[in-house]
Amino acid sequence: MLIDSFGRQITYLRISVTDRCNFRCVYCMPPQGVPYVPHERIMRYEEIAALVAVAARLGIRKVRITGGEPLVRADLPRLVQMISAIEEIEDISLTTNGILLEKYAGALAQAGLKRVNVSLDTLNAEKFTKITRGGNLENVLRGIAAAEVCGLTPIKINTVIMRGINDDELVDLAKLTLKHTWNLRFIELMPIENQQSWGEGFPPPEQIFMPVSEVMALLQPLGLEPAILENDSGPARPYRLKGGMGTVGFISPLTEQHFCQRCNRIRLTADGHLRPCLMSGLEIPVLPALRAGKPIESLLEEALQKKPAGHQLASHISPNGRCMIQIGG
Ligand code: 5AD
Ligand code: SF4
Repeated sequence: MLIDSFGRQITYLRISVTDRCNFRCVYCMPPQGVPYVPHERIMRYEEIAALVAVAARLGIRKVRITGGEPLVRADLPRLVQMISAIEEIEDISLTTNGILLEKYAGALAQAGLKRVNVSLDTLNAEKFTKITRGGNLENVLRGIAAAEVCGLTPIKINTVIMRGINDDELVDLAKLTLKHTWNLRFIELMPIENQQSWGEGFPPPEQIFMPVSEVMALLQPLGLEPAILENDSGPARPYRLKGGMGTVGFISPLTEQHFCQRCNRIRLTADGHLRPCLMSGLEIPVLPALRAGKPIESLLEEALQKKPAGHQLASHISPNGRCMIQIGG
């Protein structure tokens, strides 16, 4: 078992397979983008799978593939297959912007992928293009439908809460769960290298944050009731709208006091660093050891030992160095 120095059991590894993306979401990266890591410094699938095999022996049971946008990396189903072949891994899922899902959902399901999380911050096509700086809503909705047909369920939808941008649509987004079996999750905007201007037409970044409590108040008239999800160890607190087929969940890294106490995860960046905490810049390079054929157990243990108790956003300390696109959320 992997237990960190605060007694939290770590069973979940989030793997970023690329720092590239075919969107440029306003909360995820600056308008000019970020320099890409050259290919030779990105972990090869064999290296990722080797790391997962070791992590699984130590106690990791659940893997999520993230990016950038993971589906822009060539032949992702091959990695999915390699990871699902590792016996101890019980669950493998993917976080995606959905734009390439229509094309890949079938191959991913066949390779052993269980589920997908898709980002969806608005139902307005024009606004969608603005938030993603070029993305197409229609393609994403088709991607979600394809994932559903292929059994990559339950579908989770991630919605970042943004005052002055999508706060007028949060009720409509929640209402999607009346007709769909989706688990929609409202996520508080995290200040990760995104506190500079988002560009023309956007409010100043410091005005955009809106707490989950306000979203819950907006949804109360729809009959919001606590719900229970099967096999759920995630950070979202699940609810159901009256008569809803799906659920709405709330992820409040900033306003929930004990959020970090429930943390069960570590991260692996595309360029081979173990990142014990999303909100801390602390990282442990693991790729050199892997490439040299050295054991990496001690590096995983080091990551656990150094995992901080929690973020320090309340003291206005936020990680710098990497944008969300370079971590994978
Ligand atoms: N705050 C909260 N959520 C974010 N995401 C990306 N950047 C942020 C941020 N700054 C979400 C995306 C995606 C997931 C990986 O994380 O919407 O669904
Ligand atoms: Fe790409 Fe996802 Fe970041 Fe948007 S949030 S730019 S889709 S990685």
